[in-house]
Amino acid sequence: NTKLIAWVAEMAALTQPKDIVWCDGSTEEYDRLCAQLVAAGSFKKLNPELRPNSYLAITDPSDVARVEDRTFICSDVKEDAGPTNNWCEPAEMRAKLQTGEGALFKGCMKGRTMYVIPFSMGPLGSNIAHIGVELSDSAYVAVNMKLMTRMGKGVIDVLGADGEFVPCMHTVGAPLQEGQKDTTTWPCNPTVKYIVHYPATREIWSYGSGYGGNALLGKKCFALRIASTMGRDQGWLAEHMLILGVTNPQGQKFHVAAAFPSACGKTNFSMLIPPEGYNGWKVTTVGDDIAWIKPGADGKLYAINPEAGYFGVAPGTNTLTNLNCMNSLNRDVIFTNVALTDDGDVWWESMTDTPPAHLIDWQGKDWTPQIAKETGAKAAHPNARFTVAATNNPALDPEWDNPAGVAIDAFLFGGRRSTTVPLVTEARDWTEGVYMAATMGSETTAAAFGAQGVVRRDPFAMLPFMGYNMSDYFQHWLDVGAKLQAAGHKVPPVYCVNWFRKGADGKFVWPGYGENMRVLEWMLGRIAGTAKGAENAFGISPNYEDINWSGLNFSQEQFQSVISMDKAAWAQELKLHEELFSQLAYHLPVEMPATKAKIEQRLGL
Ligand code: GTP
Ligand code: SPV
Ligand code: MN
Repeated sequence: NTKLIAWVAEMAALTQPKDIVWCDGSTEEYDRLCAQLVAAGSFKKLNPELRPNSYLAITDPSDVARVEDRTFICSDVKEDAGPTNNWCEPAEMRAKLQTGEGALFKGCMKGRTMYVIPFSMGPLGSNIAHIGVELSDSAYVAVNMKLMTRMGKGVIDVLGADGEFVPCMHTVGAPLQEGQKDTTTWPCNPTVKYIVHYPATREIWSYGSGYGGNALLGKKCFALRIASTMGRDQGWLAEHMLILGVTNPQGQKFHVAAAFPSACGKTNFSMLIPPEGYNGWKVTTVGDDIAWIKPGADGKLYAINPEAGYFGVAPGTNTLTNLNCMNSLNRDVIFTNVALTDDGDVWWESMTDTPPAHLIDWQGKDWTPQIAKETGAKAAHPNARFTVAATNNPALDPEWDNPAGVAIDAFLFGGRRSTTVPLVTEARDWTEGVYMAATMGSETTAAAFGAQGVVRRDPFAMLPFMGYNMSDYFQHWLDVGAKLQAAGHKVPPVYCVNWFRKGADGKFVWPGYGENMRVLEWMLGRIAGTAKGAENAFGISPNYEDINWSGLNFSQEQFQSVISMDKAAWAQELKLHEELFSQLAYHLPVEMPATKAKIEQRLGL
């Protein structure tokens, strides 16, 4: 591919690496790079008896999460990035990164190896899939990309002589001068970071961070920000959604796509194990973070998971909350920022009821339960993560790799809200569903830098991942539904869920995790026309008796406290919707304020 060869040469001239390695994606290469990371002190090989073929990486304390305030959408005009994105004129950004005096990428890879990482988002050769090539000076990125994507020589073959790819430039931003030895185990630039997208030319430029969505450019940068603009232009959807399959005792299988904000339960829901009493029910994972959804000729919406692995939140994961996930992590894992046990294994908060007596915490300090009690020190960083191939998941859906995707039967949207938002509501129609998704609020989590636990609007769980104007995106969703309906097709029903309502004691009322199956069963019952519900101001909710409670002690009062809509709280909530709408006034679909007016009317406001 002459374009690829020319681009790599051009980028090497700009960044001046000491050498270039073309990744073939083989196991030998993975093992060699991991051994190299171990030798450099960047990886610790875990005890092979306890955690075969697994490693622990510890980052610089400044580089532990996505940096939303350093993320830019450089569209040609500001309005196209919209008010929810940082925008900078493309020419100005290019000067800063590439062309200007002292541009950041000039010589940024000095003393380091440039890895050429070809990857496919989606099954190799699928007509839903798209190819990217990441150039990175981080071996950590190369091995993570091997687990997270279809990476290597096969991609070059599919690319052929003139195939298209999305160029993804990445540097940790820590060049080494002549003779300078690399003394850090996590090279990065602690103070200068840029995560930049040029939607018009479909380019990604990432500087200064080696962590997660900042550096594994196939994930948020490509599969969400760039892909969302491709979807807008080509009539499809790129979403921050898990995809699961659910099979009932009659053997009927349904597929559900669900958007929850970062660290709000996608991985958990996608690997759900039905509770006691749900004999014959089975949930299987198609994807845990991202969905690409395209309308099929039959009027159904077909979804693929563009990824091939999971970069999941470790803290809170245990055999009770997510047994399938724990079993996925038995071997072949890269852990980042979790704690190290004295026998060379890993630990994180709530992994076991009783913490080990002694650990080395994620910052390399001694940690004991006593120290934690006194200082509040966390053993693992709250955004500590594991990287593991999807094929390690015992609940992997047989269709997960199907290039045609799976037909979506329902969409779910759910934020993390300790008050106000009911456990579940069903939208009366597509427009009300789009409204629910658009106005979703959620308490911020450790997945991004910044204050935590603050309620913010996170439309479609896409606030940090939108590649264009948010209002145009709402319109795109309305258009996708309208087009299907105009052709005589049915659109999937839309549900709004909230697993996170708290009681006066500050504890979650809803047991969540596997018990979310009860809500899922109600939704499937609604689709089949067998489950009842009651109309409320914000869609349709189940009555107590409409949910299957067998095997769970959950009283009518408890149910009321998670399903009820408080009028005063909703009057407040609608003010926040209004605030969002005034921020998004440019191109805001008229359906949004019109739906809001109906809700106000139903509430008697
Ligand atoms: P990203 O990878 O950041 O996009 O996150 P995610 O949406 O996949 O979140 P994940 O499933 O990893 O869950 C994040 C946190 O939420 C973990 O600490 C979970 O234990 C917790 N969590 C997940 N599901 C539930 C639930 O149903 N109820 C409660 N209370 N907590 C949950
Ligand atoms: C998220 O923050 O939604 C993630 C983790 O899935 S990261 O890949 O770092 O964006
Ligand atoms: Mn995510």
